[in-house]
Amino acid sequence: MEKNIAVIKGDGIGPEIVNEAIKVLDKIGEVYGHTFHYTEVLMGGASIDACGDPLTDEAVEQCKKNDCVLLGSIGGDTTKSPWYKLPADKRPEAGLLKLRKSLNLFANLRPALLYDELKAACPLKEETMEKGFDMVIVRELTGGLYFGERSTVTEDGILVARDSLKYNENEIRRIAIKGFEIAMKRRKKVTSVDKANVLDSSRLWRKIVEEVAEDFPEVTLEHMLVDNCAMQLVKDPGQFDVILTENMFGDILSDEASMVTGSIGMLSSASLNETKFGLYEPSHGSAPDIAGKNIANPLATIASAAMMLRFSLDLEKEADSIESAIKQALKDGYRTIDIMSEGKRQLSTSQMGDIIASYIK
Ligand code: NAD
Ligand code: IPM
Ligand code: MN
Repeated sequence: MEKNIAVIKGDGIGPEIVNEAIKVLDKIGEVYGHTFHYTEVLMGGASIDACGDPLTDEAVEQCKKNDCVLLGSIGGDTTKSPWYKLPADKRPEAGLLKLRKSLNLFANLRPALLYDELKAACPLKEETMEKGFDMVIVRELTGGLYFGERSTVTEDGILVARDSLKYNENEIRRIAIKGFEIAMKRRKKVTSVDKANVLDSSRLWRKIVEEVAEDFPEVTLEHMLVDNCAMQLVKDPGQFDVILTENMFGDILSDEASMVTGSIGMLSSASLNETKFGLYEPSHGSAPDIAGKNIANPLATIASAAMMLRFSLDLEKEADSIESAIKQALKDGYRTIDIMSEGKRQLSTSQMGDIIASYIK
């Protein structure tokens, strides 16, 4: 089979981790007889440096011409990089938001599971960790605070900044349906996370989620306030199956969930619309503090490539093969520094890519 993949390496560790995902995809191609054609597309800081814009319209069009997009990560050190002296709509993150919006990628899936082999890297209490956990955060990705009107103005002689948070019922319904559909294929439990004790947008969220739940009688629905959810994630992550939530809550909760898996370097993600098309990227950022050192964990990106094979390219057994290879490498004691523990073998980014590729069968 021939497939076309747009590749955005991005900034910081982006190129390092994407190269390892491509190494693994090429091995999949070899073993299963597929050819993956890659088209490099610029976004983020790399695009600002090349053409003064974090994502050009041509770059969006290039992405659309492919079957899916594989992304590393974009952005720099927000306190030091000159990119953060630019107006907000010219900074690296604006490119990513434009891409998500232009491709209508409203559903962001972030699976967080504790591999048995990584229990030593998990910061939870022994008895909590022993229970294990396997959840997926279903994050709304094209609405809410990220896409509301914003302004900074002087009023009565002082600076005032505004960001507005808006959701309409259709935006809530379509992500809720996605959350319930995913729950049907899992343990049939949805925890809808909101701040309905304060926010109107959350009260509408709850109402619509309740309505959608009526079409999924087999799924147990519970509502949880976001502050409590942040706490429950470290107290008892095993209680969660699908966490369904809005854009910013999902951003924050997924970073938290990533750390209980052992490292943010483990959390993959898929951003989907109503078609087969999708954008696949690790949940973490460009990690400027470790960029260029060949020490970043490429597993989140490699696992995102597996999601890409499954959701966009209909290559289920190939996706399984990558996931088994990751498990096997962890079982055999291979670690990058972020998940290192006593008695294990520490690898560089590229060595981890080599090992995963060598385990593809
Ligand atoms: P970050 O996720 O880049 O890094 C946070 C910490 O986690 C750092 O200590 C980093 O070294 C570590 N880390 C991240 N990924 C790792 C990996 N694969 N292996 C080992 N360690 C890893 O978050 P940040 O520092 O807050 O943000 C840095 C930049 O990344 C910012 O410009 C931000 O806007 C951007 N960002 C981009 C994306 C994206 O492209 N999707 C996501 C998040 C942040
Ligand atoms: C993520 C990132 C992005 C987000 C930023 C870089 C805009 O943190 O993908 O989690 O907040 O969505
Ligand atoms: Mn984030």
